[in-house]
Amino acid sequence: MKVLVVGGGGREHALCWKISKSKKVDKIYCAPGNAGIGEIAECVPIGAMEFDKLTAFAKENAIDLTVVGMDDPLVGGIVDAFEAEGLRVFGPRKNAAILEGSKAFSKDLMKKYNIPTAAYENFHSPEDAMKYLETADMPIVLKADGLALGKGVLICNTRQEAMEGVKTLMLDKQFGDAGNTIVIEEFMTGREVSVLSFVDGDTIKIMTSAQDHKRAKDGDQGLNTGGMGTFSPSPFYTKEVDEFCKKYIYQATVDAMKAEGRTFKGIIFFGLMLTEKGPRVLEYNARFGDPETQVVLPRMKNDIVEVFEACIDGTLDQIDLQFEDNAAVCVVLASDGYPEKYEKGFVIRGLENFKDKDDYFVFHAGSKRTDAGIVTNGGRVLGVTATGANLKEARANAYKATEWIDFENKYMRHDIGKAIDEA
Ligand code: AMP
Ligand code: GLY
Repeated sequence: MKVLVVGGGGREHALCWKISKSKKVDKIYCAPGNAGIGEIAECVPIGAMEFDKLTAFAKENAIDLTVVGMDDPLVGGIVDAFEAEGLRVFGPRKNAAILEGSKAFSKDLMKKYNIPTAAYENFHSPEDAMKYLETADMPIVLKADGLALGKGVLICNTRQEAMEGVKTLMLDKQFGDAGNTIVIEEFMTGREVSVLSFVDGDTIKIMTSAQDHKRAKDGDQGLNTGGMGTFSPSPFYTKEVDEFCKKYIYQATVDAMKAEGRTFKGIIFFGLMLTEKGPRVLEYNARFGDPETQVVLPRMKNDIVEVFEACIDGTLDQIDLQFEDNAAVCVVLASDGYPEKYEKGFVIRGLENFKDKDDYFVFHAGSKRTDAGIVTNGGRVLGVTATGANLKEARANAYKATEWIDFENKYMRHDIGKAIDEA
């Protein structure tokens, strides 16, 4: 089989690596890919939003299966574009990717189908939002309705901050049209857990749990980022939590989408908060998480292409999804200054240390091949993942492996997975 992966970050590198392990696959292409992906796939210089070029490429090269990693193309209807050309593609159609594409939609869905989430109201005008805030309890959370690179969520401690937040989102339009509508919701506290799942429209199979570290600095200080590291499994995702989510959240979401005429096939990523009153859905994503994928896929036993095909064909019930009884930790190596200002173009040394090692991985997020060698080309540069018998061992291994890599301005958090000590 020939497989095309759409995207070019650490998540897509992990996807390409896992797809390369499939017995069914002879050749992988990745659009646009990156320097690390180029070691295992042929990178194609087409952007993820260039649907016409992508479908033409898939036809010309007789691609058997396309896998979409990123949210923008999914929400923009890339799956519909491929299907219209008779091409096989893994991911939700546009009418189902709205589960991630509109927070107002997903909140209304949860309310209608009694799926546990924070209490909320949707607002279409800044005047109504401001009026509501006059009497609302603080702290409170404001969310831009549309995609905002994971940055459209404002946690506001005071009424004044919240009023300023409405201005930022709805009047100054910091995230463009994504802020035409906003969700204002109850502030919740608790542990956060990410749960990824495969869905074929009817059946849902849960992968193992993971946890992301979104803040830039140790101790969860600093600005929000695209993710500075992850670990899997989460020790806070207990049997009780799993049973609750199976009863009230996972299948309920798949059934709700079907009942709405928006049958969902692909990945649903459940962002959960484990509150005192039980698990609550913080958000849905319609794709693999980044960098959750970098710790989940190295633990997955199945041939992932078989699972993708079962989702497309509606035969997921016949798949026995299995994960290793081990743990994985991913530490992101970033450019100092990320997520604000940072320099790029520095040579990355030590990548060869990861060759021929089964328990250590270096997934590229922002790198570029030049005449001088592979250089840094983004805020998040690499994700160093290691497995181990348990989380402590995986964490020690991952931090050991971060020492094998060197580049100017290398920055990382030193406490990825530290929360597990408290579990
Ligand atoms: P989201 O993109 O909706 O997952 O929000 C990004 C982050 O904001 C989450 O991972 C949480 O840390 C935080 N967050 C979102 N909603 C809430 C909430 N209702 N209460 C507390 N924190 C929240
Ligand atoms: N790691 C969170 C996300 O992929 O949205």
